[in-house]
Amino acid sequence: MLEILLKDRTTGGNIIWANAEHGRQEITADDVKLIRPRWQKLREQQRQRTKDRAEIFTPPEVCKLQNELIDADEHDWQAYVGARFLEITCGEAPYLVNRYNAVTGEPIPIKERVGLLDRKLRVVDKETSAPKDWIDYAVRAVQSVYGYEFQGDNLFLARRNVFETFKDYYRQRFTREPPEDILREVAEVISWNLFQMDGLKCSPPFTEEVNLFGGVYCQIKDWFTGKTFEFIELTRGGRR
Ligand SMILES: C[S@@+](CC[C@H](N)C(=O)[O-])C[C@H]1O[C@@H](n2cnc3c(N)ncnc32)[C@H](O)[C@@H]1O
Repeated sequence: MLEILLKDRTTGGNIIWANAEHGRQEITADDVKLIRPRWQKLREQQRQRTKDRAEIFTPPEVCKLQNELIDADEHDWQAYVGARFLEITCGEAPYLVNRYNAVTGEPIPIKERVGLLDRKLRVVDKETSAPKDWIDYAVRAVQSVYGYEFQGDNLFLARRNVFETFKDYYRQRFTREPPEDILREVAEVISWNLFQMDGLKCSPPFTEEVNLFGGVYCQIKDWFTGKTFEFIELTRGGRR
């Protein structure tokens, strides 16, 4: 699964570090053990990242209030589960999933999580009875949440947080580990939906410096149509 969770769907390679230490180097499966969430990073490193990339993470109580304000206003539960959200500059994705307090690292029990995907998975749990329905709608919920981030270690953690969240809810529901084929499907979705992008350029970080012709825009996938398109189209108002 790790290989899938490191894929960059725009470049075809792996996601890159895109930080001061490692620049454009791709993150490999071996590197993953070096990755620490912000709350475990050295104070000096935290300070530098705040300076370089405005990295400051949002505590769960603020995510909760804001998510309540923007939560999908859908009357039927299937539409609610499919309603699409994008966390811009997602860091470790605390607005989407909430396994731990992004500021302090304190673990958060499933029942108290406030991420947009957490809310959807709770609805799936409540509204489905057949295992197949639970799985279909839980995958749909994962397909509906998106995020982008510049720094590769944050992006990897965001992807892992979404992946582990799916596993948490699956275990809670079925009291066993999710099967390999389902996990693979979920990892594929995540590798598309949480993507590495410089939000100011709609391109993978540093792309314009290596491609003089420009125009390498990040790809995004619409799971309802199965089609991929350039993220920049969204900013031109052509799609929803
Ligand atoms: C203030 S943090 C917010 C993270 C998360 N959304 C949260 O609320 O905890 C900003 C994030 O934006 C990322 N970032 C900075 N510049 C960016 C850019 N040009 N494009 C995409 N992400 C960027 C940083 O790496 C950092 O993780």
